[in-house]
Amino acid sequence: MKKQILFILLAVLSYNVSAQKFNQIANTPPMGWNSWNKFGCDVSEKLIMGIADAMGSNKMVDAGYEYIVIDDCWQVGRDENGEIIVDKDRFPNGMEYLADYIHSKGLKFGIYSCAGTKTCQGRPGGRGYEFQDARTYARWGVDYLKYDWCNSNTQNAQASYEIMRNALYAAGRPVVFSLCEWGQSKPWEWAKDVGHLWRTTEDIVDRWDAMISIFDEQKDLAKYAGPGHWNDPDMLEVGNGGMSTEEYRTHFSLWCMLAAPLMAGNDLQNMTKETLGILTNKEMITINQDTLGKQAFCFRDNGDYEIWVKKLAEEEKAICLLNRSDEVKTVEVNISILLKSNDNYWATDPYEMKNYYITT
Ligand code: GLA
Repeated sequence: MKKQILFILLAVLSYNVSAQKFNQIANTPPMGWNSWNKFGCDVSEKLIMGIADAMGSNKMVDAGYEYIVIDDCWQVGRDENGEIIVDKDRFPNGMEYLADYIHSKGLKFGIYSCAGTKTCQGRPGGRGYEFQDARTYARWGVDYLKYDWCNSNTQNAQASYEIMRNALYAAGRPVVFSLCEWGQSKPWEWAKDVGHLWRTTEDIVDRWDAMISIFDEQKDLAKYAGPGHWNDPDMLEVGNGGMSTEEYRTHFSLWCMLAAPLMAGNDLQNMTKETLGILTNKEMITINQDTLGKQAFCFRDNGDYEIWVKKLAEEEKAICLLNRSDEVKTVEVNISILLKSNDNYWATDPYEMKNYYITT
């Protein structure tokens, strides 16, 4: 009997050891680049190496950008042993070679797969191959995995993502695990111990109305973000051409206030000074990367303008005035109210309050 109890205890203990995500990574929102928004399926070794070179020489690395992530379409099939097959025409030297190149630049390497049977572009998904794929990624030197949700049929989201989390952990190489489930099963409620970031919405589109409606959807999610577990309102569109410079500046500032992952999504090899200036804005990045890891909340919603506040480490706060209209606006702000830390308002943690809006 005792033996049996001991066995059960050991089984429970060993399960707990394997069932976790990698801790102590992504303590501030991940920063990097992803191929999807600009290049879609047109990915190749040449492109990724060019992006790595550009990131090193244009000062984005100095600004904190780190991960280079190849999104969908790098994979074409599985061999007779189930091993994932890389598109040899586009990646002639394979993924290990590319990872080595990216690492040699002091950067980190990310890849994409899907929890379903096929990716969103119909390439082989990870379903049923999680542990094998995780070992392959570890061998290649993968540091970041974006895991999508297409073709998942009746799968349970939490259970599916937990399998991949466990597989990555078992493979032994620390990987930032990025859940891309589009917010369908409210991952902010369950994914804190599963991944480091989770998409909260459908895909972003390079237009003001699409960007701002994604922003609106983040309003009630502030309390779920923190070091190592971030709400992900999707990758940046800055520099892709569908918004004005002012709108891109707003997009970037809002993502910084949200403590959102900053994954550039434009062609880093060909961008204007304005685009680079927005992407490397030091003050905004400092706010985004603040170690307290708080997402901004809406302090006041006046329709055309909003005031957002992000608590920072060392009792500091960042304040954002958002003018949603097409007209120039003058907004008077009583900074002393916003900065006070011991009045009634701030005595209650606004991140815990049901209703963030102050109407006075
Ligand atoms: C989904 C994701 C996108 C991108 C594409 C690739 O739509 O949400 O971010 O990864 O798949 O097919």
